[in-house]
Amino acid sequence: MAESKEKAVPVRMELRHVCFSYPNTMQKALDDISLVFESGTCYCIEGPNGCGKSTLFRILLGLDFPDTGEYLFEARQITEKTMKSESFRSAFYRKIGFLFQDSEIQLFTASVEEEIAFGLEQLGKPEEEIRDITEKYLRMFGLTEIRGRAPFNISGGEKKRTALAAVCAMNPEVLVMDEPLAGLDEEGQAWVTGMIQRLKQEGHLLIIATHNRPFAEEMADVHVKMDRNHHVTELIRGTADGQKTEENKKSNL
Ligand SMILES: Nc1ncnc2c1ncn2[C@@H]1O[C@H](COP(=O)(O)OP(=O)(O)OP(=O)(O)O)[C@@H](O)[C@H]1O
Ligand SMILES: [Mg+2]
Repeated sequence: MAESKEKAVPVRMELRHVCFSYPNTMQKALDDISLVFESGTCYCIEGPNGCGKSTLFRILLGLDFPDTGEYLFEARQITEKTMKSESFRSAFYRKIGFLFQDSEIQLFTASVEEEIAFGLEQLGKPEEEIRDITEKYLRMFGLTEIRGRAPFNISGGEKKRTALAAVCAMNPEVLVMDEPLAGLDEEGQAWVTGMIQRLKQEGHLLIIATHNRPFAEEMADVHVKMDRNHHVTELIRGTADGQKTEENKKSNL
């Protein structure tokens, strides 16, 4: 974010008939999911608890792999083998940033400021640039006062801000966010919503799972609706005047 004098580079991600079950379970967590995600668009993934939103994200992030069907990131098929390549992995995670549903599992360094600096170090940025960007994101995310605190000793809202600051500082083209407003008070929700609006205006590809209707209505260019059977049942496109045009599509989209 905001480092972008550089405009975000267009990205295309595609799922083709993806099915996935967790090991040792008979039930599908994702059943025949076909979706395309393109830059400059904000997709809100909506559906009941357990429908498969977080699982979908694990596939998009290359943490799990389809049992059947394909996942293509910029025309390259993402498989266990592709993700084992160190050079591919680092290029992939340079482009795709993520905010987990639970910030606890995302934060692992000794201080808030190290949390921001760590990702920048992984990108191989020079020390001085890392210092400057870290300062900027500490300020922008209101974290200056708690910069030296251990991430496991700060509040839930502060954890969410820290995780989001660390992701945004890396300026990825794609941001995948699982319940970014969960656990935040009204002020925190408004603040994070504003940050996500900025990312949207900068042309990032945003894929956001949310149970928060007003947030989805405000943010989504495309609503992706999932159901209890782990299917995508509808794509609903927002239009400029806020009206929705429904394309009632079955799972084979
Ligand atoms: N680690 C796991 N092992 C086995 N089954 C799992 C695991 N994680 C999730 N599941 C199952 O996979 C299905 C999809 O779960 P997932 O977490 O993707 O749902 P979700 O849409 O993100 O739900 P929520 O809205 O509660 O976050 C559910 O039936 C769930 O029980
Ligand atoms: Mg989830």
